[in-house]
Amino acid sequence: MNNDSKKTLRRVLGLSILCALPFLLCLAGCDSTPPPIPLTQLNPQQARGHQVYQAHCAQCHYDRVSDPLHGPPLRGVFKKQYLPSGAPANDERVTATVLHGRNLMPAQPNTDPQDLYDLLAYLHTL
Ligand code: HEC
Repeated sequence: MNNDSKKTLRRVLGLSILCALPFLLCLAGCDSTPPPIPLTQLNPQQARGHQVYQAHCAQCHYDRVSDPLHGPPLRGVFKKQYLPSGAPANDERVTATVLHGRNLMPAQPNTDPQDLYDLLAYLHTL
């Protein structure tokens, strides 16, 4: 092989590694769900919902990463069609889960209705 074709080969190899890079990075940590709305961009209701979340859910659920804590991650909860249990991911099912609990998740039947609306608004930003 002469010097020129060696150079071309190196260039081609370099290029293909560059092209594969986003894909490889994606395999390592990519989530198909779009990222949550940043906390600084929440509207007032969503911001109140975030406080409710911090007080009543955050000790058991991550909201901004897709890792389980004591319960499944709530990141992208309404962007998926189904909840982890297989129930449809909608306001009714999530409300019922909060009010009535589910297996190891304790019921919170005295949740203030306004808190619940705000919480749902926040969960929709995830
Ligand atoms: C003490 C821990 C704990 C707290 C606090 C908690 N959860 Fe959970 N949550 C769990 C566990 C454990 C599960 C998994 C239940 C199962 O399916 O076995 C769960 C499941 C869920 C699910 C999935 C339900 C399904 O049908 O798959 C949702 C949605 C949820 N929690 C929302 C919330 C919200 C919103 C709050 C705050 C109001 C909250 N959780 C507070 C522990 C908790």
